[in-house]
Amino acid sequence: MNNMPKVAKTFNRQYTENDRKRGSLGMKNVNLFYGSFQAVKEITLDIHTCSITAIIGPSGCGKSSMLRIFNRMNDLIPSARIEGKVEFGGIDIYEPGVDVVELRKRIGMVFQKPNPFPMSIYDNVAFGPRRHGIRNRFALDEIVEKSLMQAALWDEVKDKMGQSGLSISGGQQQRLCIARVLAVEPEVILMDEPCSALDPIATLKIEDLMSTLASNYTIVIVTHNMQQAARVSDMTAFLMVDDDHAGRLVEYGETAEIFTNPNNKKTEDYITGRFG
Ligand SMILES: Nc1ncnc2c1ncn2[C@@H]1O[C@H](COP(=O)(O)OP(=O)(O)O)[C@@H](O)[C@H]1O
Ligand SMILES: [Mg+2]
Repeated sequence: MNNMPKVAKTFNRQYTENDRKRGSLGMKNVNLFYGSFQAVKEITLDIHTCSITAIIGPSGCGKSSMLRIFNRMNDLIPSARIEGKVEFGGIDIYEPGVDVVELRKRIGMVFQKPNPFPMSIYDNVAFGPRRHGIRNRFALDEIVEKSLMQAALWDEVKDKMGQSGLSISGGQQQRLCIARVLAVEPEVILMDEPCSALDPIATLKIEDLMSTLASNYTIVIVTHNMQQAARVSDMTAFLMVDDDHAGRLVEYGETAEIFTNPNNKKTEDYITGRFG
């Protein structure tokens, strides 16, 4: 299998049972429908805490749909309906009474196309904390600086905090969006093809950033770039549609395993570039 992407990451972190429980995130028998069309079928998996999980698979196999299930972003799509259980920190996030604003604070999201708000760099990062009630200027200054540092953007923007978030480069905008998510202190960060609009250098910066963040945050990333999945992730979930066009979880395991010794022939065919 010499076509396999090279796995750069060494899988050396040891997880305790407590790690897994704290903010643990998982799906049990999840189905997702758009009207009568089933996009995601019978997915069950547990996401590992403080590590990077990549969701890979051919276009249209349900990766984005699956990612959005984790913080109820599909709620925004009127035709979407979900069955099954999605647990986060011991609660079913689809139970009635769950505070979705609070949920999305704990499980933040970064999108394919950088989407800073049309406001200053400072206000972009301060937006979430302000929304959650923080008004004190010193407290906000501190959060903004810390978040931009964590997003590896501070040095590049510290002298232009009043400038529009839209005036910086695409790669900087994406790191600004990551800083915006970090500012509300999430536990999980969902990223839907966060580098697909970026050049290779900006992409590597985001990948480095993800690796750094993974020591404190649980990251789930959708990528159609298998080299990227192999480079950055600890765990990989491979999705594919069956004849009924619904996306299923074909294989889920340690990235090093999936990319060197997959259990399923379909996984092997996909990662060696035989289809998709
Ligand atoms: N808002 C939507 N309404 C109806 N169908 C959708 C919607 N979003 C995605 N789909 C369909 O669900 C399937 C999975 O889509 P998606 O999750 O975007 O796949 P991927 O991210 O893997 O490319 C596709 O067949 C797509 O056309
Ligand atoms: Mg997608």
